[in-house]
Amino acid sequence: MKSAADFLDRGLAMTTPHPLGERIVKAEGCWLETASGERLFDLVSGIGVSNLGHGHPAIREALHAQVDQHLHVMVYGEYAQAAQDRAAQVLLSTLEGTDLEAVYFVNSGTEAIEGAMKLARRVTGRTEIFGVIGGYHGATFGALSLSTPSHRRNAFLPLLPDVHHLRFAEESELERITEKTAAVVVETVQGDAGIRPVPEAHLKALKARCRELGALLILDEIQCGLGRTGHVHAFEAAGVVPDVLVLGKALGGGMPIGAFVASVDHMKALREAPKLGHITTFGGHPMACAAAAAYLTELKKLDLSVVRAQGESWKAALDAHPRVVEVRGGGHFIGVDLEGPEQVAELVHAARRKGLILFWFLSRPQGFRIAPPLNAQPAELEAALAHLLEALDEVKG
Ligand SMILES: Cc1ncc(COP(=O)(O)O)c(C=O)c1O
Repeated sequence: MKSAADFLDRGLAMTTPHPLGERIVKAEGCWLETASGERLFDLVSGIGVSNLGHGHPAIREALHAQVDQHLHVMVYGEYAQAAQDRAAQVLLSTLEGTDLEAVYFVNSGTEAIEGAMKLARRVTGRTEIFGVIGGYHGATFGALSLSTPSHRRNAFLPLLPDVHHLRFAEESELERITEKTAAVVVETVQGDAGIRPVPEAHLKALKARCRELGALLILDEIQCGLGRTGHVHAFEAAGVVPDVLVLGKALGGGMPIGAFVASVDHMKALREAPKLGHITTFGGHPMACAAAAAYLTELKKLDLSVVRAQGESWKAALDAHPRVVEVRGGGHFIGVDLEGPEQVAELVHAARRKGLILFWFLSRPQGFRIAPPLNAQPAELEAALAHLLEALDEVKG
């Protein structure tokens, strides 16, 4: 019989010559079940998506109800739809007290970044946009222009003009933001650079510099947001509210969706001159929005201090292991460095043999991520940590 990896090669386009290749037949809670009946603990939540585990009952129920009501009825922004209203209302309820009061729903994180970039150009009438070295914002031309490292971009040049990159968390770089700058796009916690939180003081300084010069601060919380760090929004830890908040991944509870959120005043820039200047057929799809409303409602019920405390105890346990070089992040969003890429590969395979799914970063070859569902049970997490530490014991120095 062909393996799943063979099938990917023959019938489906592949993104890498070395896919994990597991054939998954079922997923529930923190567990994935393979075709051979093996159960695997998902320590990466499908890369930051399944924050409430797989197939959460409230999300399934919302999807069943929506499928009976209606699927797609019209392109985004023409008809009023209850699922979109519900998703927007719950999301905005997490942003009360800020001027983030209008949501534009799209289909993915990348698309939300594109929308945010266009919004910044329209609001400011400027073209210059800064990303940050180490940032990853998606694979379309605009989002890729914002992203690094250069070896991932060079094959696709030329990219968007007037997009530049600030060095990570360096105060002296703030001077490069001027009255020509439309926006600075920053991951509050860089995800694929190895889970690197932007220091609070730097985030505050960025916000102040942007405000002083009339540039927009766009925070990409596609990966780090919506509970992952132990805060509903990662920016809450620093008390810095962005001009535009960009969300995706976990937002749909397993359904594809992205969103950018801004003030009503700013968002008005997308509805005229030209009208229909930013449009999407499936953005705000009723199924995705029904799932998003359910996800956000359940997220609000979670005690996120438990997520923060669990993160601290995992960090301490990992830090104490002789194979571990560095541990970063917090909550259920932890990056761990080993000596080098070979050690990480060894670990991922050793962990897989023990029934744990681990995964690499896009641009930190010596690191791996730990991002289990936020609602994983303490006993499950304890067992997963014990297996992970045993797998680390197997890694050669
Ligand atoms: C921080 C960040 N921004 C943007 C994206 C792109 O999102 P998507 O893959 O849903 O288009 C990702 C995806 O990994 C991400 O981690």
